[in-house]
Amino acid sequence: MVGLGPKKPPSRKGSMADVPQDLITQINRLEELFTVPAKKLKAISDHFVDELTKGLTVEGGSIPMNPTWCMAFPDGNETGTFLALDMGGTNLRVCEITLLEEKGEFDIIQSKYKMPEELKTGTSEELWGYIADCLQQFIEYHHQEEELDELPLGFTFSYPATQDYIDHGVLQRWTKGFDIEGVEGNDVVPPFEAALAERGVPIRLTALVNDTTGTLIASAYTDTEMKIGCIFGTGCNAAYMENVGSIPKLAHMNLDPELPMAINCEWGAFDNEHQILPRTTYDIIIDKESPRPGQQSFEKMIAGLYLGEIFRLVLVDLHESLECKIFEGQDLGKLKKPYSLDAGFLSAVEEDPFENLSETEDMFRNKLGIVCNKPELELIRRLAELIGTRAARLSACGVAAICKKKGWDKAHVGADGSVFNKYPHFKQRGAQALKEILDWPAHKGKGKNDPVEILPAEDGSGVGAALIAALTLKRVQQGQNAGIRNPDSMLKCSAAQKKAK
Ligand code: BGC
Repeated sequence: MVGLGPKKPPSRKGSMADVPQDLITQINRLEELFTVPAKKLKAISDHFVDELTKGLTVEGGSIPMNPTWCMAFPDGNETGTFLALDMGGTNLRVCEITLLEEKGEFDIIQSKYKMPEELKTGTSEELWGYIADCLQQFIEYHHQEEELDELPLGFTFSYPATQDYIDHGVLQRWTKGFDIEGVEGNDVVPPFEAALAERGVPIRLTALVNDTTGTLIASAYTDTEMKIGCIFGTGCNAAYMENVGSIPKLAHMNLDPELPMAINCEWGAFDNEHQILPRTTYDIIIDKESPRPGQQSFEKMIAGLYLGEIFRLVLVDLHESLECKIFEGQDLGKLKKPYSLDAGFLSAVEEDPFENLSETEDMFRNKLGIVCNKPELELIRRLAELIGTRAARLSACGVAAICKKKGWDKAHVGADGSVFNKYPHFKQRGAQALKEILDWPAHKGKGKNDPVEILPAEDGSGVGAALIAALTLKRVQQGQNAGIRNPDSMLKCSAAQKKAK
């Protein structure tokens, strides 16, 4: 077809020729602000290692390093039918997963329910009531007129929770823009179970799971090299398998130090004390205006929820700046609305395949009512690249830190989330940063067959949560009840599983 540009993003070399000096000065300033050189990446990673270690001590640090009581990798012989519930930011997903006799195989049925926006700032009764309604609908739809034994459930609750038991979790704080009163500081399981009981829904919560732990376990189901599970999505976090002997805050339990224990790092909280991350004024504004200022410092610089907002804040600032006025004389009403641009918008800017950035121009015109000239479009594109690149490079610091802490020269990392799956060049930029931090030879850092390789994960909040529920039931059957609050009621569940087989 005539008139279509190339598919691959063209090199933008030379495209700055028409950009006036004041914009060039601004672009240089932004490059300075948002670029994280190799030396800084290394310093961040080293500090990160110390903070991971500190989080495991009795005194603790700002990274929570939550023991999850998921104490084994699957061996592929897990069987049975499990429910999995994923309370994500936009959707609620319910799955029924049957782990089959054939090693590593499973059947899955699933339904999605919209998570109403008002719920995120509503009351806790509304939240649990809505979730229980969805589960009830799912069961009624898929098991019409069946006599059901209690089904075991793996509940993926992707917020920081302190877990003394796997079937328990005290929400430390809401993240990702959630702000529901009366949940922080409390165990989320009893009100959830009460809402199910009120409706007579035959479900037994077997494991409360973080999405990163689910990702780790689901990915390890099919890949024995898997050592870390990561989410690069609306939020950002990782989990890995530690040995109990390296977790001083569990010493009082006198467990076998060789036992494995999945740790949900909650690394979004890294550097809440602002010692090392190169925060810009824009990052500071994001934090100040957020429902939880002072929290999730690292996450606020890299996660999908914030990327579009950082971009928006820079553009508004440049419009108002005295040295350079972009979008001069135009109505910026739409752009001035907080969180009006998401990471998808930024992705689309980076993905614009046309030399003249005509897709970006259309997006600004159609979505924001702003008409951009060519130099402004060049600045917009460069800014998106800088923000996206910084996110990928900082994310790599966390991955490198876990590897360094554990002394792993080689590892597979299972990653999921909208930023990892959809944001252009995120994977390559992350691989390049890992190479710089870990000093790999020149031909590495391409993402494929690198010593530490970040790979697309298996379905963590579905299959992962089901596997963790299965592993928990297996432990109960073997009488290994450490970190399980309600082993007796779980035994009933596992007997029903056996009967069903
Ligand atoms: C939450 C984590 C979660 C991550 C990715 C963060 O905001 O605190 O629990 O794993 O988002 O979903």
